[in-house]
Amino acid sequence: MGRAEGRVAIVTGGAGGIGSAIGTLLAREGAAVLLVDADGAALDAVAAGLRAELPDAKLATLVADCGEEASAARIVDCARSELGQIDTLVNCAGMRSYEPLADAKTETWQRILAVNLLSYAWLTQAAIDDLRASGRGSVVNVSSTHAVNPRAGMGQYDVTKAGIVSMTKTLAFEEAKHGIRVNSVCPGLTFTPFHRKRAEAAGRTQADIDSEAQGGCLMGRWADPMEIAYPVLWLASDEASYVTASVLMVDGGRFVL
Ligand SMILES: NC(=O)c1ccc[n+]([C@@H]2O[C@H](COP(=O)([O-])OP(=O)(O)OC[C@H]3O[C@@H](n4cnc5c(N)ncnc54)[C@H](O)[C@@H]3O)[C@@H](O)[C@H]2O)c1
Repeated sequence: MGRAEGRVAIVTGGAGGIGSAIGTLLAREGAAVLLVDADGAALDAVAAGLRAELPDAKLATLVADCGEEASAARIVDCARSELGQIDTLVNCAGMRSYEPLADAKTETWQRILAVNLLSYAWLTQAAIDDLRASGRGSVVNVSSTHAVNPRAGMGQYDVTKAGIVSMTKTLAFEEAKHGIRVNSVCPGLTFTPFHRKRAEAAGRTQADIDSEAQGGCLMGRWADPMEIAYPVLWLASDEASYVTASVLMVDGGRFVL
């Protein structure tokens, strides 16, 4: 019996480094999974890998821009028609921007707020009837350690991640009476294909990449995406049945430094 057996789960950003790990783990643990992403080619590649590993898995994919409000209803309709009533929502889609606040453009603000923050709100709202009816509804919102520890140069991103933490707590308040648990996971440095491409483009070596993480947390290394996926799985499962409104730092011990 898998830890997510019998559940229907949506994972946004499901083609990305962390989202694909979450989708893979939920599927391995018996959930029927809808992976949603704006990048169709990456989504096909992740789905092909999953189908090869788990030929009997109930798996669906949808190419959608989560930063468009209308996508939320499409995503929920797709999950219901392909897989059934939704029990688990993992909001993980995210984009980055690197504009110092003094130079931040309005269109960048609007886009990053829509993709990183409003998409979480829109999709939760669209799925709320199913989550309430589930009796074991769980929302896991992927935020970041930078929600509580901002830095120079990514202010727009960090604001959206702080908003996710706030939204998680309010929603947990409002939905507890409907049996929905709402939690947030804040990853620390997590090494994904995005980071590899970025490092290669900047001419950085593996030793440079490794050294970035050395002073950043007690563990002195980057997380593997599966090390974020396991806490998400736990929060989504009945093992965390008394856990709601929590903000779980998965950061290798960053905040004691
Ligand atoms: N990797 C890290 O170090 C780290 C640390 C803290 C938080 N996070 C958060 O984890 C989540 C996943 O990040 P990742 O590192 O796997 O990055 P990633 O870039 O590999 O994955 C993000 C995914 O979201 C998708 N996406 C972007 N905009 C979208 C949109 N408008 N609609 C639908 N899909 C869209 C991308 O196509 C991509 O597949 C993000 O929310 C990110 O902010 C990552």
